[in-house]
Amino acid sequence: MKLIVIGAGYVGLVTGVCLASKGHKVTIVERSKERLDLLKRDVSPIYEPGLEELMKRFHNNIAFVSNLSDGYSGQNIFFLCVGTPQAPDGSADLQDVYDSVESILKYCKEESLLVIKSTVPVGTNNSIQEMVAQRRKKIHVVSNPEFLQQGKAVLNTLYPSRLVIGAEDEYSIGVMKELYKDFNCPTVCVNRASAEMIKYASNNYLALKISYINEVANLCDKTGADVMDVVKGMSFDKRIGSDFLQPGIGFGGSCFPKDTKALLHVAKEHGMEFKTIQSLIEINEDQKYKLIEKAEKKLGNLCDKRIAVLGLTFKAGTDDVRESPAIAIVKRLIECGAEVNAWDKMAIEVCKKKLNHEKITYCNSIEECLKDADACFITTEWTDIVNVDAEVFLNYMKTPFVFDGKNCLNREYLKTHGIIYEGIGCR
Ligand code: UGA
Repeated sequence: MKLIVIGAGYVGLVTGVCLASKGHKVTIVERSKERLDLLKRDVSPIYEPGLEELMKRFHNNIAFVSNLSDGYSGQNIFFLCVGTPQAPDGSADLQDVYDSVESILKYCKEESLLVIKSTVPVGTNNSIQEMVAQRRKKIHVVSNPEFLQQGKAVLNTLYPSRLVIGAEDEYSIGVMKELYKDFNCPTVCVNRASAEMIKYASNNYLALKISYINEVANLCDKTGADVMDVVKGMSFDKRIGSDFLQPGIGFGGSCFPKDTKALLHVAKEHGMEFKTIQSLIEINEDQKYKLIEKAEKKLGNLCDKRIAVLGLTFKAGTDDVRESPAIAIVKRLIECGAEVNAWDKMAIEVCKKKLNHEKITYCNSIEECLKDADACFITTEWTDIVNVDAEVFLNYMKTPFVFDGKNCLNREYLKTHGIIYEGIGCR
């Protein structure tokens, strides 16, 4: 089948390339010239395992263009994958979505499918369908949310947990099923509003799980319980499971922070207070600074103390620092008057540009980062950080205080070698 994907961000690029790998002919529209230049050379502008290999392998099935007029040659399936960033009031900014719909309306002549993959507030797909009807175009709007995780995006797309099709006519469902026939997963066919809600409810539920276990961890800190043992004990209950119960410094990234606020906003617009979501947003905001509170308890005022921050991305396996708790921590440390040494596996260069301050020293190695530090904060679970030898902490740091914001280090090993260790909800 022939299709056009609008937007070569995480969702659009990965979806387009994975559909091309199943034999479809995919044209991807990307307006950024810088990205387009890379894409045309089969270079991925994002770090995503397996993506570049697929781009190269299925090169003949993929074309990259800078605008719809260059790419449109009668295709009748459009995938809309543009960003929906957070507006100042917490709602989702739909400007790019509506601009893209306008250009599709301009060029599209045949009976077509407009598949919305962008995460949009409940009701948006229906309002797009109304826009289409006003122009008397035969375009069927379908909501088809994605559930891919950064760092595993290719795997999540090729082997999805489920396929959600929000469509309101048999023609659309038929085309969608044909398009995805080589993807082996359960298919949930619902109306457009339910599909949009499935996306928000899923992300918000995962964010809620994280905030819940973070609160349990904070209580463990006060009571002497060990949160890692608590999680283990809970996880054997199949109704609870073990996923998304890793305590730490809170969630970040381009999805959870934005989608929690957007759902809260949707609820408010409908006159409802969504209390669990309101609370989880507050919990997550406070959670970012737990390591600083812990360090202050041990070291006193952090002014002029040197803190080694290991990890800047919002999680391991990505170069993305959007809404990263590590960045919030570095900023707060600076406000406290601390000197910061920072290291990351993937994001040093981008951080040098984004967060430049005389009190921040970006380091080329973990050893350099730890040198003369009064304390070390673990803020991303990179394997290189998880595997740091106790001797390295002891040899390089002024005092071996290690505050583990991801509960990812081998604390028994570190403690027996003289490290003063503290995690979130465990010691
Ligand atoms: C998230 C969802 O997991 C995907 O299903 C969804 O498709 C995607 O958002 C999206 O809407 O596009 P992602 O943002 O890539 O994916 O990241 P996650 O792996 O979910 O992690 C999010 C944050 O939660 C990270 O900061 C991570 O460190 C934190 N986290 C995750 C925890 O603190 N504890 C956990 O147990 C799990």
